[in-house]
Amino acid sequence: MNATAAPARRQLQPPPVAPSPFPYNPGSLLSVQDLSLDTVSHLLTRASALEAMDPIERARILAKRRVALLFYESSTRTRTSFELAAKALGADTTLVSSLSSSIEKGETLKDTGLTLHSLGAEAIILRHKASGAPWVLEQFTRLPVLNAGDGMHEHPTQSLLDLRTILQHLLPGLTTVSADTLSGVTVSIVGDIFHSRVARSNMFLLPRLGAKVVLCGPRELLPEIATTAGPGITIERDFEAALRQSQVVMMLRIQAERLAGLQLDLETYKASYQLTGQRLATLAPSAVVMHPGPIIRGLELTAGVADGPQSAILEQVRNGVAIRMAVVERALTAHGARA
Ligand code: CP
Repeated sequence: MNATAAPARRQLQPPPVAPSPFPYNPGSLLSVQDLSLDTVSHLLTRASALEAMDPIERARILAKRRVALLFYESSTRTRTSFELAAKALGADTTLVSSLSSSIEKGETLKDTGLTLHSLGAEAIILRHKASGAPWVLEQFTRLPVLNAGDGMHEHPTQSLLDLRTILQHLLPGLTTVSADTLSGVTVSIVGDIFHSRVARSNMFLLPRLGAKVVLCGPRELLPEIATTAGPGITIERDFEAALRQSQVVMMLRIQAERLAGLQLDLETYKASYQLTGQRLATLAPSAVVMHPGPIIRGLELTAGVADGPQSAILEQVRNGVAIRMAVVERALTAHGARA
């Protein structure tokens, strides 16, 4: 009998994963995940310094540099604050909006980006309805690209201005962050998590500073898989239980424009998840109330809460200018462009 040895099993190895080439440009801000905590600290520190600076001195920093704003989706806060931030540093800005440009005639993102590059744009601030669009634009233009919100994916400058707002309330004066800066702090993010790029960027950033992030909302707007976005993230379906443990409550708008046929009974939603004055007073009387805007009064929160003493909503808007000055400066200066 011819005994033959069993053939040795070939060990299957996963294919090697090539390191991401993004960002190509060190001045880009595509994802908050690309920022080290040192760079987050640098941006927070520069935001404070630029805000306090003499306006004439500040306007010399990027004097006559060219910044393009390319917006495929509507915006009030992000667009205006990026524009004011770039202008405050002395840059010339131009706005290309999908509703009043050759994008309406079918020009692609690539060709629009290359056109802006040829016109002398040195950085492009992009808002787009498609997740990943800023990566595409950066690949084709190799310019610094600042993600001003891409689809349901990320809104990195919103999470930085949210962080600045949280620090101003809980740790005033602090602009240097580390892995335990927010330890012991619970931030509840409430509402339409599924469609929210703001939620996603905050879920990526805040736990890296030690915060506990509690996601709260109904199953239609908050799938169980959300906790896999990273460590430090849990789900609490009971809004009142979430409020009881929160130092920060971040309310979100229901994004009707992205519901795509999903039926939601708004009265049922409000009964369970609306932030009312009574819920706030009894369950979280010292919590900071935040909202990225636009707010829908009477839906995710009452007008009394929006205008009340715990609301930091307009501080968030103001912080948008300071943070975006730091981000635009980083995009266009060798000094600022640290990974
Ligand atoms: N927070 C935010 O992105 O608001 P806008 O859509 O008005 O820019």
